[in-house]
Amino acid sequence: MLGVGLVGVGWVAAQHLQAFHQNPHTRLVALCGRNEARARRRLAEAGVDASGARFTTRYSDLINAPDIDIISIATPNHLHAAQAVAAARAGKHLLLEKPTGLDHAELKRIRAAVTRAGVRTIVSFELHYNPYLRFAKWLREDGWLGRLVFARFQYLSRVTDSYSGWSWVRTNKSGRSHLLAAGCHAVDALRWCTGLEVMEASAFSTKVTPGYQWPTSIVVNLTLDGGRKRSPVLAQVTSSTDLQLPYTFGVEMMGDRASIRDDLILWNDTPVDVVALRRACPFDDVTLHEVKTVTGASAIRIETEMPGSGDVRHHPFQGEINELVSCIFEERETHLNVFDAERTMRVCIAADRSAAMGGRPIRV
Ligand SMILES: NC(=O)c1ccc[n+]([C@@H]2O[C@H](COP(=O)([O-])OP(=O)(O)OC[C@H]3O[C@@H](n4cnc5c(N)ncnc54)[C@H](OP(=O)(O)O)[C@@H]3O)[C@@H](O)[C@H]2O)c1
Repeated sequence: MLGVGLVGVGWVAAQHLQAFHQNPHTRLVALCGRNEARARRRLAEAGVDASGARFTTRYSDLINAPDIDIISIATPNHLHAAQAVAAARAGKHLLLEKPTGLDHAELKRIRAAVTRAGVRTIVSFELHYNPYLRFAKWLREDGWLGRLVFARFQYLSRVTDSYSGWSWVRTNKSGRSHLLAAGCHAVDALRWCTGLEVMEASAFSTKVTPGYQWPTSIVVNLTLDGGRKRSPVLAQVTSSTDLQLPYTFGVEMMGDRASIRDDLILWNDTPVDVVALRRACPFDDVTLHEVKTVTGASAIRIETEMPGSGDVRHHPFQGEINELVSCIFEERETHLNVFDAERTMRVCIAADRSAAMGGRPIRV
């Protein structure tokens, strides 16, 4: 059994703990927060049994505990880097909430500490375990879209003062930017699904929703490295809290053979053979239907669990935590470690910098 300590007992922490409870190889040992009664009340309200876990207000108690193997970091953003570095130095494996670091210096410190300690890490880009996103990645990898020409990922989520983390997320110190606080999920999904790395970012931002210290919408144009002697692939990320629509995680990948746009597979010249696609699809939780679009075009509709909710109770943390635990036992890297997440963070930082400079392209 691996002992788990958690710091930052808030909204997302309850879901980390549910997933650790469900893993047969982990047990919750200790919680760290600023107020025990408040923390335990929050967990009880979320239906999490943490009665067997001790409570401390000192993070050093988690770091120094010999019965803790994994530290789950679910605090406000400005605390992540220092807590991750301290945990790694103490030889603890890490579940680290996004954003990992808020600037290059923080990212470098995390990378150095984790490299030196050789601990396992996983970063909460849990959409990698969402059935739709996993299918979209496979569809592109298996060649059904052809060669990628354009991709667009959108993170549109209205967050105002009813959010439990409003006091910190709205600030420059902790929330920092919409991309770092939220839209990094879209940057991560873009990198993961396309399998391509960002070369350059050029962005514009604006501030609409009151209360935030930073711009509340950003549109980022990106060039992706298409490979040696190949033209760059164009991409775009939109990240916004200003829009009047339900939570939307938009996914579009357009290739020279076909396109995926949210729950539709579309084409122009050569139809995608739905029978062959069904036969090739390795996921039994994905169903494919032949449909007509509103304009009468033939298409294939993907039926599976979509990344359609901003509520953490619907987020697939189980897959993430199971992977971390397996990798600890098997002494191998997770695919979603701090080194990979650093590339996503660097794109976000470059895009924010570009927006602050009026859209000047910034190399990542
Ligand atoms: N991966 C995802 O899909 C996802 C979803 C949501 C959030 N997150 C990330 O998870 C982290 C926590 O977010 P959350 O939504 O759970 O926020 P939250 O509800 O505000 O929880 C954070 C907790 O940290 C504790 N805390 C410790 N030091 C604090 C400080 N200086 N200021 C404020 N709170 C402090 C607070 O508990 P006490 O007051 O009791 O100490 C608070 O309950 C963030 O980094 C966020 O980006 C990720």
